[in-house]
Amino acid sequence: MSWLNVVRIIQKLKQRDMKKSQFLPLTLALLILATASCKKTTPELKEVFKNDFLIGTAMNSYQVHGRDPLAKPFIIKNFNSITAENEMKWERIHPAPGVYSFAKADSIAEFAQKNNLVLIGHVLVWHSQTPDWVFRDSVGNTLSRDALLARMKDHIFTVVGHFKGKVKGWDVVNEAIDDNGAMRKSLWYQIIGEDYIQKAFEYAHEADPDAELYYNDYNNEQKVKRDGVIPIIKSLQQNGARIDAVGIQGHWHLDEPDLNELDESLSAYAALGVKIVITEMEVNVLPTPPEVYGADIQQQAKYLEELNPYKNGCPDSVQTQLANRYSDLFTIFMKHKKDITRVTFWGIHDGYSWKNGWPIVGRTNYPLLFDRNYQPKPAFWSVIKTAKGE
Ligand code: XIL
Repeated sequence: MSWLNVVRIIQKLKQRDMKKSQFLPLTLALLILATASCKKTTPELKEVFKNDFLIGTAMNSYQVHGRDPLAKPFIIKNFNSITAENEMKWERIHPAPGVYSFAKADSIAEFAQKNNLVLIGHVLVWHSQTPDWVFRDSVGNTLSRDALLARMKDHIFTVVGHFKGKVKGWDVVNEAIDDNGAMRKSLWYQIIGEDYIQKAFEYAHEADPDAELYYNDYNNEQKVKRDGVIPIIKSLQQNGARIDAVGIQGHWHLDEPDLNELDESLSAYAALGVKIVITEMEVNVLPTPPEVYGADIQQQAKYLEELNPYKNGCPDSVQTQLANRYSDLFTIFMKHKKDITRVTFWGIHDGYSWKNGWPIVGRTNYPLLFDRNYQPKPAFWSVIKTAKGE
C-alpha cells in the first residue's frame, strides 16, 4: 500500500465524521501497513544493473517444469538472462550416437523466449559430462582425429543449428587449460590436437553466424591460468575465428580469488579486444580441501563433519563475510563494466546451488544472494549498495 493511498483513505475517514475512538486505531493500522510494505520492496537485480551488464542465472528443468512454483516468477523478476545448468550438455542433449534429446532444453528455450530472457548455450566441447562413446567407434576403439572432428562437427551443427536464433551466445569450449596453465590433456586434445579449439569455434560460427562465441574456464582470473588462456584467444583471433568474449566461471571462495589478480586479469582480457562474461558465479563459504579449489567436476573430496560446519544455519559472522566479499567482487565488476557484458549466478538461491553437493556430497552451503526461502541475504543488499556506489 502506498503512502498516497493511506493519505486518501484517512481523508475519506475524516469526512465521514468518525468517532475518535474508531478513527485513531484505524489510522494507526493503516500507517503500520504502509510502512511495512514500503520496507519490503526489494529491488530487482536486473533493474539495478540495467545500465551495466546483464544479470543471469542458471536454470534447471525442475524449475522450468514448474515443480517449484516460486522459481519462474522469481527468475523473471530478478534476471534478464538464463543458462541451462545441465540440459544442453553433451550427455543430456546427445546421449547416444545419433540420438539427440532436445525436449528439456527446448522447454528452457521456450521459457526464455516467452519472457524476453537472453538465452546462453552451455556448452559444446568439454571434457566433463561428455559420454565416453564420443571418443570411440562402435567396437570401442579410440577414434581417429578425422573421425572425432566429424563427430564434433555433427554435434555442433545439430545443437547450434537447433537453437539458431534462440541462443544469443555459446560457451564453445569449456576448461581447455589445466590449473598449471598448460593445455589440458583431455581426449579432445589427445585425439585431435591443439587445433580442436579452433575447429570448434569455426563449426559453431558456421552453424549460426549470428551467435556470439565464448571461451569459458574456471580459475582463469588467476595469472597462471590466464597465461594459458590468452594465447588461445590470440590464436583464434589470428586465425580468423569469431570469439566475442572470455567466460570466467567465477566459482569463488571467501578468500579466493585475489582481488588484485582479478582486476589485472579483467584488464588483460579486455586488452585483447574481447568482452568478459562472468558465467557461473557463486562464493563458497565452507572449508574446502585445497586440492579442489577449482571447479573441475571430476574431482571429489571425502565428507568430514568438520567440513560441514553450518548444517543448521549460516552464522551472522559468515553472512557478513559473504556480504563483504560480494561487495569487493562487484566493486571490481563495476570498475570494468564497459568490458563486462553479463554476470550470471550459478543458481537462483542457496538451496539450488551445486555447491551443496560438490566437491563433497551432502553439505549445506550458502554461496548465493538469496536464501532457501527466496529471501535476500545481507550479500544481496551489499551488491545493491555497490551498484549504487554507496
Ligand atoms: C555443474 C552443475 O551445476 C551440476 O548440476 C552438475 O552436476 C555438474 O556441473 N563448470 C561448469 C558447469 O562449466 O557446467 C558445472 O555445472 C560447474 C563447473
